[in-house]
Amino acid sequence: MLHIILLDCALELVPREISSLKQIQKHATRRGKKPFELLLDQTHHGQSMTKLPDSERRGRPDITFLSLMSILETPLCKEGLLVVHLHLQDGRIVEVQPDVRLPRNYDRFVGLVEQLLLEGRVPPQGDALLHVTGDSLEDLMSKIKQGSNASTIILAIEGGQKTSIEILQGLFPQDPSIPVIVGVGAFPHGNLAEETASMFEDHLELDREVMMAWHVCSEVLWTYSQRVGVINSRYGATG
Ligand SMILES: C[S@@+](CC[C@H](N)C(=O)[O-])C[C@H]1O[C@@H](n2cnc3c(N)ncnc32)[C@H](O)[C@@H]1O
Repeated sequence: MLHIILLDCALELVPREISSLKQIQKHATRRGKKPFELLLDQTHHGQSMTKLPDSERRGRPDITFLSLMSILETPLCKEGLLVVHLHLQDGRIVEVQPDVRLPRNYDRFVGLVEQLLLEGRVPPQGDALLHVTGDSLEDLMSKIKQGSNASTIILAIEGGQKTSIEILQGLFPQDPSIPVIVGVGAFPHGNLAEETASMFEDHLELDREVMMAWHVCSEVLWTYSQRVGVINSRYGATG
Protein backbone atom coordinates (compact mmCIF):
# COMPACT_ATOMS: atom_id res chain seq x y z
CA MET A 1 0.00 0.00 0.00
CA LEU A 2 1.33 3.43 -0.94
CA HIS A 3 0.71 6.24 1.55
CA ILE A 4 1.45 9.67 0.14
CA ILE A 5 1.68 12.34 2.82
CA LEU A 6 1.41 15.89 1.51
CA LEU A 7 3.63 17.69 4.02
CA ASP A 8 3.17 21.21 5.38
CA CYS A 9 0.19 21.83 3.07
CA ALA A 10 -0.23 25.57 2.48
CA LEU A 11 -3.88 25.23 3.48
CA GLU A 12 -5.36 27.34 6.30
CA LEU A 13 -8.16 29.79 7.05
CA VAL A 14 -7.39 33.52 7.05
CA PRO A 15 -5.64 34.18 10.39
CA ARG A 16 -7.33 36.68 12.71
CA GLU A 17 -4.26 38.96 12.67
CA ILE A 18 -4.99 40.00 9.05
CA SER A 19 -8.77 39.51 8.98
CA SER A 20 -9.52 43.23 9.42
CA LEU A 21 -7.40 44.32 6.43
CA LYS A 22 -9.28 45.95 3.56
CA GLN A 23 -8.28 43.40 0.93
CA ILE A 24 -9.55 40.53 3.09
CA GLN A 25 -12.77 42.35 4.04
CA LYS A 26 -13.53 43.05 0.38
CA HIS A 27 -12.95 39.45 -0.60
CA ALA A 28 -15.14 38.23 2.28
CA THR A 29 -17.98 40.51 1.17
CA ARG A 30 -17.65 39.26 -2.40
CA ARG A 31 -17.83 35.64 -1.21
CA GLY A 32 -20.63 36.32 1.30
CA LYS A 33 -18.51 34.94 4.16
CA LYS A 34 -16.82 36.20 7.30
CA PRO A 35 -13.08 36.92 6.84
CA PHE A 36 -12.00 34.06 9.11
CA GLU A 37 -14.17 31.62 7.09
CA LEU A 38 -12.05 32.20 3.97
CA LEU A 39 -9.22 29.96 2.86
CA LEU A 40 -5.99 31.95 2.80
CA ASP A 41 -4.95 32.35 -0.84
CA GLN A 42 -1.99 34.24 -2.30
CA THR A 43 -4.04 35.08 -5.39
CA HIS A 44 -6.59 37.07 -3.40
CA HIS A 45 -4.68 37.97 -0.23
CA GLY A 46 -1.10 38.43 -1.45
CA GLN A 47 -0.73 42.01 -0.25
CA SER A 48 -2.24 41.29 3.19
CA MET A 49 -0.12 38.16 3.54
CA THR A 50 3.08 40.21 3.58
CA LYS A 51 2.13 40.97 7.21
CA LEU A 52 2.26 37.26 8.13
CA PRO A 53 5.34 35.39 9.32
CA ASP A 54 6.58 32.74 6.84
CA SER A 55 4.24 34.19 4.21
CA GLU A 56 6.23 32.63 1.35
CA ARG A 57 5.23 29.13 2.54
CA ARG A 58 1.52 29.86 3.06
CA GLY A 59 -1.72 30.49 1.17
CA ARG A 60 -1.35 28.09 -1.78
CA PRO A 61 -4.34 25.70 -1.66
CA ASP A 62 -3.86 25.07 -5.40
CA ILE A 63 -0.77 22.94 -4.63
CA THR A 64 -2.82 20.51 -2.54
CA PHE A 65 -5.68 20.66 -5.09
CA LEU A 66 -3.47 19.80 -8.07
CA SER A 67 -1.63 17.09 -6.13
CA LEU A 68 -4.91 15.45 -5.14
CA MET A 69 -6.19 15.72 -8.72
CA SER A 70 -3.02 13.96 -9.93
CA ILE A 71 -3.25 10.97 -7.61
CA LEU A 72 -6.87 10.30 -6.72
CA GLU A 73 -9.04 8.14 -8.98
CA THR A 74 -5.96 6.58 -10.63
CA PRO A 75 -5.80 2.81 -11.26
CA LEU A 76 -3.74 2.41 -8.04
CA CYS A 77 -6.53 4.09 -6.10
CA LYS A 78 -9.17 1.95 -7.76
CA GLU A 79 -7.22 -1.15 -6.73
CA GLY A 80 -7.34 0.07 -3.11
CA LEU A 81 -3.57 0.49 -2.89
CA LEU A 82 -3.28 4.24 -2.34
CA VAL A 83 -4.05 6.40 0.67
CA VAL A 84 -3.41 10.16 0.79
CA HIS A 85 -2.94 12.11 4.00
CA LEU A 86 -2.66 15.86 4.39
CA HIS A 87 -0.28 17.26 7.00
CA LEU A 88 -1.18 20.89 7.73
CA GLN A 89 1.32 23.57 8.75
CA ASP A 90 -0.13 23.61 12.29
CA GLY A 91 0.66 19.88 12.54
CA ARG A 92 -2.88 18.52 12.15
CA ILE A 93 -3.56 15.56 9.88
CA VAL A 94 -6.47 15.29 7.46
CA GLU A 95 -7.58 11.87 6.38
CA VAL A 96 -8.80 11.63 2.79
CA GLN A 97 -11.12 8.75 1.93
CA PRO A 98 -9.40 6.92 -0.94
CA ASP A 99 -12.64 6.72 -2.93
CA VAL A 100 -13.45 10.43 -2.54
CA ARG A 101 -14.47 12.24 -5.74
CA LEU A 102 -13.30 15.77 -5.20
CA PRO A 103 -14.71 18.68 -7.20
CA ARG A 104 -12.73 19.27 -10.40
CA ASN A 105 -13.45 22.94 -10.07
CA TYR A 106 -10.94 24.84 -7.92
CA ASP A 107 -13.50 27.27 -6.47
CA ARG A 108 -15.66 24.36 -5.34
CA PHE A 109 -12.61 22.67 -3.81
CA VAL A 110 -11.88 25.87 -1.86
CA GLY A 111 -15.46 25.86 -0.49
CA LEU A 112 -15.06 22.24 0.58
CA VAL A 113 -11.77 22.88 2.39
CA GLU A 114 -13.22 25.95 4.12
CA GLN A 115 -15.97 23.69 5.48
CA LEU A 116 -13.39 21.06 6.47
CA LEU A 117 -11.27 23.54 8.41
CA LEU A 118 -14.27 25.16 10.11
CA GLU A 119 -16.18 21.97 11.00
CA GLY A 120 -13.36 19.44 11.16
CA ARG A 121 -15.03 17.23 8.58
CA VAL A 122 -16.79 17.13 5.23
CA PRO A 123 -19.68 16.57 5.00
CA PRO A 124 -20.63 17.75 8.50
CA GLN A 125 -22.89 14.68 8.95
CA GLY A 126 -22.73 11.10 7.71
CA ASP A 127 -19.63 9.34 6.40
CA ALA A 128 -16.71 11.77 6.27
CA LEU A 129 -14.94 12.15 2.92
CA LEU A 130 -12.29 14.35 4.54
CA HIS A 131 -11.74 14.77 8.25
CA VAL A 132 -9.24 16.28 10.64
CA THR A 133 -7.92 13.48 12.88
CA GLY A 134 -6.50 13.99 16.36
CA ASP A 135 -3.18 12.46 15.23
CA SER A 136 0.21 14.08 14.87
CA LEU A 137 2.46 13.20 11.93
CA GLU A 138 4.40 10.88 14.21
CA ASP A 139 1.19 9.09 15.31
CA LEU A 140 0.10 8.73 11.71
CA MET A 141 3.40 7.21 10.63
CA SER A 142 3.46 4.75 13.53
CA LYS A 143 -0.11 3.68 12.77
CA ILE A 144 0.78 3.04 9.12
CA LYS A 145 3.79 0.92 10.13
CA GLN A 146 1.91 -0.96 12.88
CA GLY A 147 1.60 -4.70 12.37
CA SER A 148 4.16 -4.84 9.57
CA ASN A 149 7.76 -5.86 10.20
CA ALA A 150 8.98 -4.05 7.08
CA SER A 151 8.24 -0.64 5.61
CA THR A 152 9.77 1.85 3.19
CA ILE A 153 9.78 5.49 4.28
CA ILE A 154 10.89 8.05 1.72
CA LEU A 155 10.99 11.83 1.61
CA ALA A 156 11.11 13.47 -1.82
CA ILE A 157 13.37 16.46 -1.33
CA GLU A 158 15.75 18.68 -3.27
CA GLY A 159 19.31 18.02 -2.14
CA GLY A 160 18.57 14.40 -1.20
CA GLN A 161 20.26 11.32 -2.70
CA LYS A 162 20.15 11.65 -6.51
CA THR A 163 17.74 8.91 -7.59
CA SER A 164 16.64 7.77 -11.05
CA ILE A 165 13.21 6.29 -11.71
CA GLU A 166 14.77 2.80 -12.01
CA ILE A 167 16.43 3.15 -8.60
CA LEU A 168 13.23 4.51 -7.09
CA GLN A 169 11.31 1.55 -8.49
CA GLY A 170 13.85 -0.85 -6.97
CA LEU A 171 13.38 0.76 -3.54
CA PHE A 172 9.68 -0.06 -3.55
CA PRO A 173 8.70 -3.53 -2.33
CA GLN A 174 6.93 -5.67 -4.94
CA ASP A 175 4.60 -6.92 -2.24
CA PRO A 176 1.78 -4.35 -1.92
CA SER A 177 1.00 -5.50 1.62
CA ILE A 178 4.24 -3.84 2.81
CA PRO A 179 3.51 -0.21 3.70
CA VAL A 180 5.33 2.47 1.75
CA ILE A 181 5.23 6.07 2.96
CA VAL A 182 6.31 8.89 0.66
CA GLY A 183 6.37 12.49 1.91
CA VAL A 184 6.05 15.36 -0.57
CA GLY A 185 6.05 19.02 0.43
CA ALA A 186 2.84 20.87 -0.54
CA PHE A 187 4.11 24.39 0.04
CA PRO A 188 5.61 26.82 -2.48
CA HIS A 189 8.94 27.97 -1.00
CA GLY A 190 11.22 27.45 1.96
CA ASN A 191 12.29 24.24 3.63
CA LEU A 192 10.62 21.47 5.57
CA ALA A 193 11.20 21.66 9.33
CA GLU A 194 14.17 19.49 10.30
CA GLU A 195 11.93 17.71 12.82
CA THR A 196 9.56 16.66 10.01
CA ALA A 197 12.32 15.68 7.58
CA SER A 198 14.04 13.53 10.22
CA MET A 199 10.98 11.26 10.50
CA PHE A 200 11.77 9.93 7.00
CA GLU A 201 14.55 7.37 6.52
CA ASP A 202 15.55 7.96 2.89
CA HIS A 203 15.81 11.47 1.45
CA LEU A 204 15.66 11.32 -2.34
CA GLU A 205 16.13 13.92 -5.05
CA LEU A 206 14.21 12.80 -8.13
CA ASP A 207 15.37 15.43 -10.59
CA ARG A 208 18.25 17.89 -10.81
CA GLU A 209 15.75 20.75 -10.79
CA VAL A 210 12.94 21.62 -8.43
CA MET A 211 9.65 20.04 -9.48
CA MET A 212 6.08 20.92 -8.73
CA ALA A 213 4.65 18.83 -5.91
CA TRP A 214 1.99 17.31 -8.19
CA HIS A 215 4.65 16.16 -10.68
CA VAL A 216 6.54 14.47 -7.85
CA CYS A 217 3.32 12.80 -6.64
CA SER A 218 2.58 11.54 -10.17
CA GLU A 219 6.09 10.19 -10.65
CA VAL A 220 5.97 8.34 -7.34
CA LEU A 221 2.49 7.01 -7.97
CA TRP A 222 3.16 5.63 -11.45
CA THR A 223 6.55 4.19 -10.47
CA TYR A 224 4.97 2.39 -7.51
CA SER A 225 2.02 1.23 -9.69
CA GLN A 226 4.47 -0.32 -12.12
CA ARG A 227 6.44 -1.98 -9.31
CA VAL A 228 3.45 -3.67 -7.69
CA GLY A 229 2.11 -4.76 -11.08
CA VAL A 230 -1.04 -2.64 -11.08
CA ILE A 231 -0.48 -1.24 -14.55
CA ASN A 232 -0.13 -4.66 -16.21
CA SER A 233 -2.79 -6.32 -14.09
CA ARG A 234 -5.43 -3.81 -15.22
CA TYR A 235 -5.33 -5.41 -18.70
CA GLY A 236 -5.09 -8.92 -17.21
CA ALA A 237 -6.64 -11.71 -19.25
CA THR A 238 -8.22 -9.40 -21.82
CA GLY A 239 -4.72 -8.33 -22.97
C1 LIG B 1 7.89 23.26 -4.96
S1 LIG B 1 8.64 22.14 -3.90
C2 LIG B 1 8.74 23.00 -2.41
C3 LIG B 1 9.99 23.77 -2.41
C4 LIG B 1 10.89 23.70 -1.23
N1 LIG B 1 12.05 24.52 -1.56
C5 LIG B 1 11.38 22.37 -0.70
O1 LIG B 1 12.58 22.21 -0.59
O2 LIG B 1 10.61 21.49 -0.30
C6 LIG B 1 7.41 20.95 -3.57
C7 LIG B 1 7.90 19.61 -3.10
O3 LIG B 1 8.17 18.76 -4.20
C8 LIG B 1 9.22 17.89 -3.88
N2 LIG B 1 10.30 18.14 -4.83
C9 LIG B 1 10.47 19.20 -5.62
N3 LIG B 1 11.54 19.05 -6.41
C10 LIG B 1 12.06 17.86 -6.10
C11 LIG B 1 13.17 17.12 -6.59
N4 LIG B 1 13.96 17.58 -7.53
N5 LIG B 1 13.38 15.90 -6.06
C12 LIG B 1 12.59 15.40 -5.10
N6 LIG B 1 11.52 16.05 -4.61
C13 LIG B 1 11.26 17.26 -5.11
C14 LIG B 1 9.61 18.14 -2.44
O4 LIG B 1 8.92 17.25 -1.61
C15 LIG B 1 9.14 19.56 -2.26
O5 LIG B 1 8.87 19.84 -0.92
